Amino acid sequence: MGQSFDSSQQRNLDRSTTLPRAEMPGRREAKELGAWLGRPADYDPMYLEGTGGFPSDGASETPQPLPTRSMASPDCDLLEPKAGDQRAATLILERNGSRSKQGLPACDPGRLNPHRRLPVAKPSSERTSPKAARPTPEGFAGSARASSKIGSSVQILVTGGAGYIGSHTAKELARAGHEPIVLDNLAHGHRWAVRWGPLVEMDLADREGLRRIFQKHAIGAVIHFAALIAVGESVGAPAEYFRNNVANTMNLLDAMREGGVSRIVFSSTAAVYGNPQQSLIAEDHPQAPLNPYGESKLMVERLLGWYGKAYGLGWAALRYFNAAGADPEGETGEMHDPETHLIPLAIAAAQGKVGGLEVFGTDYETRDGTAVRDYIHVTDLAVAHRKALDRLAAGGSSGAWNLGTGHGHTVHEVIAAVERVAGRKVPVQHAARRAGDAPVLVADPSRAGRELDWVPLHSSLERVIESAWQWHNSRSPSSQPV
Ligand SMILES: NC(=O)c1ccc[n+]([C@@H]2O[C@H](COP(=O)([O-])OP(=O)(O)OC[C@H]3O[C@@H](n4cnc5c(N)ncnc54)[C@H](O)[C@@H]3O)[C@@H](O)[C@H]2O)c1
Repeated sequence: MGQSFDSSQQRNLDRSTTLPRAEMPGRREAKELGAWLGRPADYDPMYLEGTGGFPSDGASETPQPLPTRSMASPDCDLLEPKAGDQRAATLILERNGSRSKQGLPACDPGRLNPHRRLPVAKPSSERTSPKAARPTPEGFAGSARASSKIGSSVQILVTGGAGYIGSHTAKELARAGHEPIVLDNLAHGHRWAVRWGPLVEMDLADREGLRRIFQKHAIGAVIHFAALIAVGESVGAPAEYFRNNVANTMNLLDAMREGGVSRIVFSSTAAVYGNPQQSLIAEDHPQAPLNPYGESKLMVERLLGWYGKAYGLGWAALRYFNAAGADPEGETGEMHDPETHLIPLAIAAAQGKVGGLEVFGTDYETRDGTAVRDYIHVTDLAVAHRKALDRLAAGGSSGAWNLGTGHGHTVHEVIAAVERVAGRKVPVQHAARRAGDAPVLVADPSRAGRELDWVPLHSSLERVIESAWQWHNSRSPSSQPV
């Protein structure tokens, strides 16, 4: 329950399908792609998924050669086929019963080009950033060997992908061979954090803009991070929270329906549970949010359930506990403004950037009197999103999954770990408990382990704090402009 704890305890795809170079997908893989695209079981990819609107645009079925450029060149990601080249898709080749590689760019086999985008006229509200569309070479490190269960590259719309958890997930999607298309209004996100796919700068309130995205891109699934996230703020501004987190999500779901996209992974939160009735929280724990933020997330979970029943939407609500840490390669990390989360605040205090850290409540019935929370590394969260997509693509049932470690740490333990990693003291001020703070919030993550095949590998407290420390130390206003 990142927000509910931290804010209360600290003051706190155009129509192209991007194809792996290593092999042309055969019918089975194209079928899998069809499944990703939410097509019915009898869907025949040969007739539907040519790029550029085949066959209704009257295009020849003869594959047209795409311009070639070596993938060894860092510019390969900028490959932009000419308008007439849009027909040169593997799936059209499949229609001809051919597995010829004609028509594919001569890029390094096994490497992906997650940024291949067809030229489409962008309306002003849909400004894509050429800079953002260009990945760093490091961003794709390992993608040649990365395997995704579906075996095909899929364009995935990542709302809020310029934010903290969204940017880590975009990296994980690219690593697995998919193309993250980030939609973000940059109200709280960062242009620099969009490194693994194009940025569509847009607000989810823009219903027409959303519709256009699903018309123009072959989006296979959506991961929905975009939201306002501050618990304390939500209490004073419920209208903004319900409008942004609920009404705008309805815009997204309706645009997905119109666009025929039927898979979504949603960022939910442990804040949907409210006051815990037991220390280890499983998914069937009663849901009674204590604030508009948690309520807004629960409302979306319920929307998803009803859209699933009525329209066949496949959904996964991932209830994160305390997201923490940063990309181990230092390519992205946490930068909230204002920051309300314990670990970055403790690091800022250790760095001397803030006067000290307030600890609210030292008289809880816990090991050392301070509250206990479950810190989950953001990279582990990112992997869980990919695995949830895999589950939905494989026809797995919808549902909600807790993402945590099953182990809690007190505030004092977190502070001690920051001091160990930083080699400096964290100046602390003790304050009274605050209303609404639960003594202990720890996930029972066993369902995610069983059903998503997910194990948090990066979430030891030391690793979480080391990666966060490295990130916050490497940041400078000039190198990481907000
Ligand atoms: N950080 C945590 O500990 C935590 C815990 C539980 C759940 N969550 C959930 O995870 C998601 C991501 O959290 P985060 O910490 O990365 O937050 P973040 O603020 O870093 O990212 C959210 C992103 O959404 C964008 N956004 C918000 N409203 C938008 C709109 N109307 N249109 C377009 N873009 C919009 C913001 O600009 C921002 O980039 C949120 O939904 C949050 O509720 C986070």
